Amino acid sequence: MKKRFMEMDVLGANRINEADLLNEINLEISVLKGLDIFTNAHVLGVVKVTMAMCKKMKMKYEDVKRCVLAAYLHDVGKIRIPPEILQKTSKLTDEEYHIMKKHTVYGYEVCMEYPNFRDLAPIVRGHHENLDGTGYPDGLKEEDIPEEASLIKVADVYDALTQRRQYKDGYKQSEAFKIMIGDVQKGKMSALYLKVLLSVVVDDLTEKYETHYNNVLTLHQNLEILHELEKLYKDIYDRGLTPKIEKKLRQYELAPGYDMSTNANLLIIKQKALEKEAEWRDFCEDELKVITKMLKEVTKISDKIQRENRYKD
Ligand SMILES: [Fe+2]
Repeated sequence: MKKRFMEMDVLGANRINEADLLNEINLEISVLKGLDIFTNAHVLGVVKVTMAMCKKMKMKYEDVKRCVLAAYLHDVGKIRIPPEILQKTSKLTDEEYHIMKKHTVYGYEVCMEYPNFRDLAPIVRGHHENLDGTGYPDGLKEEDIPEEASLIKVADVYDALTQRRQYKDGYKQSEAFKIMIGDVQKGKMSALYLKVLLSVVVDDLTEKYETHYNNVLTLHQNLEILHELEKLYKDIYDRGLTPKIEKKLRQYELAPGYDMSTNANLLIIKQKALEKEAEWRDFCEDELKVITKMLKEVTKISDKIQRENRYKD
């Protein structure tokens, strides 16, 4: 069986300092300066996702570095694709698509020119291969595709589907995963690495959900105080500033110059913020429900494949 990143290094993974690693790698990749801004934004997205996946798998530092460096370089061959094809916003013609696909081979050639990148060249070349042999440029199958290329492919497709581009809106995460699960079921994409990405996204969404949930609570409390103050200001308007009201106002330790209109403005701002936060909280909750189910489904597929592979061995 092909070597997977099974050698875990729990302490090593905790030791990874993202800033240091990215800094170290950044020094090596001046070759990327020639990329257009859209490809560049995509590359950074793929790097971020790859890094999170490697950490989730608790990979060894050297393996993480290798994967992240390859993620930086995966589309470097696009330097040699004519800009009118690269930035075309409508569907590519067959001929243009044929040229576009060459970025894998160009990327390989660019990497071969640099002694430091030579052993990454096959990963860059293989990031559009499919496990069933239907990918490009070489139509490689399962065992012949570098493991890192299968991992980066998952990060690549996810970023391509979810990020907003100059010509399209991004898919919701759950919509992107629906498409990617289709690729796993067709035998094109790695179930194991999709499982890893799904669990990264579940963690991330859980954290986001908790943040929005807490923000909603805080804003509710803020609004309660603002409503109390609004009532006090109304009392002042009706009855004038009595010693009792003055005493109550003092409890709020208001900033100098704070008055009825400041309060009214704050009420509007906080109310809008509350609506937005509640919307985000509900969105995260819905996505989390769907994606947690997907994680279970893909885990089943991945476990089954691993059992079959073990049986083959
Ligand atoms: Fe690519």
